[in-house]
Amino acid sequence: MDRHGKQMMVDFKKGPSAVGRVSGRVNRTSRWRLYPRARDAFGAVLDALAIGCRGGAVILPAYVGYSSREGSGVYDPIQERSLSARFYPVCDDLTVDVEHLKSVLEESPQSSALVLIHYFGRPDPELAAIIRLARHLGVPVIEDAAHAYFSAEALASCGKDGEAVLYSMHKMFDVHEGGVLKLNTEALAAVIPPGAAGQVCDADWVRVFEEDVTAHSQARVANYHKLVTRLRALAPAVVPLWPGLPVGTVPQTCPVRVSNTTLRDQLYFGLKAEGFVVASLYHTLIRALEPECFTASHRLSERMLNLPVAPSMTEAEVDRMVEFMSSLITRST
Ligand SMILES: Cc1ncc(COP(=O)(O)O)c(C=O)c1O
Repeated sequence: MDRHGKQMMVDFKKGPSAVGRVSGRVNRTSRWRLYPRARDAFGAVLDALAIGCRGGAVILPAYVGYSSREGSGVYDPIQERSLSARFYPVCDDLTVDVEHLKSVLEESPQSSALVLIHYFGRPDPELAAIIRLARHLGVPVIEDAAHAYFSAEALASCGKDGEAVLYSMHKMFDVHEGGVLKLNTEALAAVIPPGAAGQVCDADWVRVFEEDVTAHSQARVANYHKLVTRLRALAPAVVPLWPGLPVGTVPQTCPVRVSNTTLRDQLYFGLKAEGFVVASLYHTLIRALEPECFTASHRLSERMLNLPVAPSMTEAEVDRMVEFMSSLITRST
């Protein structure tokens, strides 16, 4: 049922039809719906899938955070709808444990939905196999590409095969809000028509669609490479989460693993005070993810830091940031 009490049935086995654009400006199709934030878009797709009234669950990766300021962009829409959630483990580099996911999917009630999160812009190396598995079991896939707008729209490495895709524009651009729901099936597009409840049309942030995604992506990738090269000098205190830039990734930030939580916090607050736009995404995981059950997730959350790779960053700023980190590390030892 939707919020207005209408029964909605969608045939998820049919799969999405492909969409595509590879360079220059984004080609917004008639299947894009705009919302204030990605979480609103997520809520709309959860309602459309009618998971709760069909006895299903939302199946999520065991790496979901919250903060007192932002809440949990992923978990709040689930809780607000009183839906049940199940979690599948992720490895310590956020790669999906596919065998484990398979058993969670097989044990979940029918009419569940699978959420895949392309953390920091990286599509999982097994994305295609995971989507095939979900399709085989008749489970719709929601690709949370909140951080992966450029991986999807410039590289087409994700966001094509899930039934629904979420983008968070304020996570990728210098705007205050913006959420996109991209619907890859006719069936879902019919259930969530343009102009349906919660959507926006004339928002100021839509100007970001004018940006050249290729140029923007190239700048992010170049900054990422510069940064990981400089970070070699900080090992083993600070090590990139991934050894190189993973295939198909336009990075939202450069995630790094710090040797301990105290140093992570010192780096975070020190860099912030110095004016660097550093983040510590997922520093606190939602309560449903108990530390005893999801050890790898908690271990990572306690040590991770997200360094900036925004296109506006210059090479000199990258150098200055790493030098400053080096001085903080020296001071802490
Ligand atoms: C992975 C992920 N998905 C979804 C969201 C929600 O994004 P928004 O703030 O646009 O609702 C966030 C951010 O909170 C996020 O990190």
